[in-house]
Amino acid sequence: MKLPKKVRIAVFPVAGLGTRFLPATKAMPKEMLPVVDRPLIQYAVDEAKEAGIEHFVFITGRNKGVIEDHFDRQFELEETLKKRGKLEALKELQRDLPIAGQTSFTRQQEPLGLGHAVWCARHLVGNEPFALLLPDMLLKSDPGVLTQMIAAYEKTGNNIIAVEEAAPEDISSYGVVARGQGDDSGFEITGMVEKPKAEDAPSNLIISGRYILQPEIFDLISNQAKGAGGEIQITDAMHKLMEHQNFTGVKYKGRSFDCGSKVGFLTANIVFALARKDISHDFMKELQTVATGS
Ligand code: G1P
Repeated sequence: MKLPKKVRIAVFPVAGLGTRFLPATKAMPKEMLPVVDRPLIQYAVDEAKEAGIEHFVFITGRNKGVIEDHFDRQFELEETLKKRGKLEALKELQRDLPIAGQTSFTRQQEPLGLGHAVWCARHLVGNEPFALLLPDMLLKSDPGVLTQMIAAYEKTGNNIIAVEEAAPEDISSYGVVARGQGDDSGFEITGMVEKPKAEDAPSNLIISGRYILQPEIFDLISNQAKGAGGEIQITDAMHKLMEHQNFTGVKYKGRSFDCGSKVGFLTANIVFALARKDISHDFMKELQTVATGS
């Protein structure tokens, strides 16, 4: 089989209000909440970069301007770091910067749902396959989850969805897929449903907020009726696309932190801090003190 069209573009929906983190997110986008010292959105962009993505499309909204600033050069800051000899910090800032022209920003003007947010990217994506990354879901894995998905995409040319197992009490917060034939690195998806009751769910495999989608999804979203929560859902549009195209699931190697929830976000901070050579030793000592109450 000849290689399918390369996935060059990633879409990051970042228009959500972040009501679960008020008042922290009153004036600051939830995607800028830091896990250790990097904002959530940076982790998703890093994952996309690692997978070979060349263009980064952000679907923003009101109050999200600092996301655009975050991916811009901060000239004064760079000069100050240089003068003070803080060359490591400078190098890190420069390494995180996209190359000029690699980012695009557009706004979702009304909170009509994730499907609608993705649809707002249709002109920026054009007629190409694209990756979709939801930055709330922080995925810790090596190689990155999108890299694992690209491997499945290159083998099949299908639409690809990353999934993981979830506990019954968590199922109704997510999209859930039905699993057909194939192994964890690529199995047939035979059905999907958004936020089912645990007893109606087709499996315990939830959608982890990472997708590779063909551009035909955009027309389907245009005609998509409101679904779960009264919102236009990407899962419903994908379910329609399943009538014409194949979907492959990747049960990725790694673990997720749902940073849309306080417990997920706090746990991510602990796990990522303990993985950091510069602070893990001191941090572990503090954690032990807290845990033993001494
Ligand atoms: C969205 C998707 C859902 C997916 C989840 C992952 O839901 O609609 O299918 O499982 O992200 O975080 P949301 O979190 O926007 O309610």
